[in-house]
Amino acid sequence: MSGHLVIQTLNKSFGGIQAVQDCTFEVEAGSITALIGPNGAGKTTAFNLISGVLKADSGRVLFDGKEIHRLRPHQITHQGISRTFQISRNLEDMTVLENMVVQAPVRGWHDLFRHGIPPHERQRAMELLDFVGLARLANEETRNLSYGQKKLLDFAAALMAEPRLIMLDEPAGGVNPALLEEIISYIRKLNQQGITFLIVEHNMDLVMSISKKVVVMAYGQVLAEGDPERIQRNPAVLEAYLGEGQR
Ligand SMILES: Nc1ncnc2c1ncn2[C@@H]1O[C@H](COP(=O)(O)OP(=O)(O)OP(=O)(O)O)[C@@H](O)[C@H]1O
Ligand SMILES: [Mg+2]
Repeated sequence: MSGHLVIQTLNKSFGGIQAVQDCTFEVEAGSITALIGPNGAGKTTAFNLISGVLKADSGRVLFDGKEIHRLRPHQITHQGISRTFQISRNLEDMTVLENMVVQAPVRGWHDLFRHGIPPHERQRAMELLDFVGLARLANEETRNLSYGQKKLLDFAAALMAEPRLIMLDEPAGGVNPALLEEIISYIRKLNQQGITFLIVEHNMDLVMSISKKVVVMAYGQVLAEGDPERIQRNPAVLEAYLGEGQR
């Protein structure tokens, strides 16, 4: 089993705001780990540091024993880490299928100059769209999808690079209960195939039902970590949420 992620004393500040402070935790290979915390706790910033979208001021990130914190985002994807964004980054003018294919990893310079979609990528994209129930919308312009369908497209697109670890930033944000159940079942199925998950999420039903470990951030720091039952009973965690007003 691979997909072991180690985050060691990561720091990132924006001007005077210490968004992530000495952040340290591990994601066990093959696990589903949730990263929770009140709004502004630093969860998305931590994701941006791990995925290389932002450079840390200090600290290290290791993936399967290899340092990845100096790598660029596409190199980190190449190592086997995919992510989704809290705010969808789908290109609205492109079709659903095209949005899938642009997420496929660039494997060589010739990929940059090609025309059309290579058959193997089309096939993989169609399989993944089928997995999330969007295959019939493959040629639809992405702007015509519902909010929930766009969430599913984000999810499917993150699978194009054949990741060993997937980081999801609020996969259930704004989705209805039926779709939430669907998303949970996809995460479970992929996890059973060996894919490791790190999930930022405010929906406690999702967090508590699927995660093996919960890491709680507040004010940029890791406040607590442990199994879901223990985290739910942790007074410091409750206080962190109540202090900020629960969402
Ligand atoms: N690019 C940026 N420039 C300046 N400040 C930033 C930037 N990104 C994040 N911040 C600040 O860093 C802190 C952490 O933000 P972050 O988005 O990581 O929180 P979060 O835990 O993901 O919150 P939410 O649950 O609302 O998504 C906040 O105070 C935020 O305003
Ligand atoms: Mg966020």
